[in-house]
Amino acid sequence: MTTALITGATAGIGAAFARRLAADGHNLVLVARNTERLREQATELHDLHGIEAEVLTADLSEDDGIASVEARLTDRRQSVDLLINNAGFGNKGRYLEVSTADELKMLKVHCEAVLRLTSAAAAGMKERGRGGVVNVASVAAFVPRGTYGASKAWVVQFTQGAAKDLAGSGVRLMALCPGFVRTEFHERAGMGTGNIPGWMWLDADKLVAAALADLARGKSVSIPDARYKTLMGLVKVAPRGLLGGVTSKTGRKYGPQ
Ligand SMILES: NC(=O)c1ccc[n+]([C@@H]2O[C@H](COP(=O)([O-])OP(=O)(O)OC[C@H]3O[C@@H](n4cnc5c(N)ncnc54)[C@H](OP(=O)(O)O)[C@@H]3O)[C@@H](O)[C@H]2O)c1
Repeated sequence: MTTALITGATAGIGAAFARRLAADGHNLVLVARNTERLREQATELHDLHGIEAEVLTADLSEDDGIASVEARLTDRRQSVDLLINNAGFGNKGRYLEVSTADELKMLKVHCEAVLRLTSAAAAGMKERGRGGVVNVASVAAFVPRGTYGASKAWVVQFTQGAAKDLAGSGVRLMALCPGFVRTEFHERAGMGTGNIPGWMWLDADKLVAAALADLARGKSVSIPDARYKTLMGLVKVAPRGLLGGVTSKTGRKYGPQ
């Protein structure tokens, strides 16, 4: 039986990965900050699918939290075959409206934790000649979309580079770039979602199914869903100035829901 470790497993996209991987018979290591929620999820997935679900409480915006997940990933007695670096959040406000401390916290979770956990997992996977890492980025990586988009652009570039360096080793790395997904993300960030058209919303379970299919195909970047594939194709040819105006506004309305 293989084991998958998922960060940000308790809600949204991470919870969808947990549901799908448990249904496929993988044992799980579930990581997030809320222990009670993690325990409830672990019990539910164990009871439903008969898999082992371990709980690892960790705050990935803290060194100690990252270190505890690194320790689990490098434990040779119980190897992890698939790592899903999914934990993430948005800050409330545009550039200069957000404190530098909060910007750095986002970089810690989106970039430092992703780098350290990928490295901790990939080293053992390379030795064993097999394994997978999915780093959850965003289509925001491809457009001018504040410091959030910049952090996700790092995730895409890092993952593609590492995937090239590990080509032929048996270790697959993939950056997953979703569009808008109905999760707790926008509410947690205090973002109104009223100006996001209905057709732009993706379903987390369908997103995860498409992502795992792309990982199996050996893709290093996955943009699930035809709508966003088309949009990102247009982004490549659109003038940068126009993109800045449109993309920084959509879905970035801060205030009451
Ligand atoms: N929703 C979208 O439209 C969308 C689009 C593109 C990309 N994404 C990306 O998808 C990923 C998942 O987002 P989501 O939409 O599923 O968000 P969500 O519903 O808010 O879930 C976020 C998860 O991350 C955990 N988390 C947050 N901060 C953490 C920290 N410091 N340490 C450990 N765990 C932490 C949360 O649990 P605890 O609070 O218990 O820690 C929760 O399990 C993120 O990387 C996000 O940037 C989302």
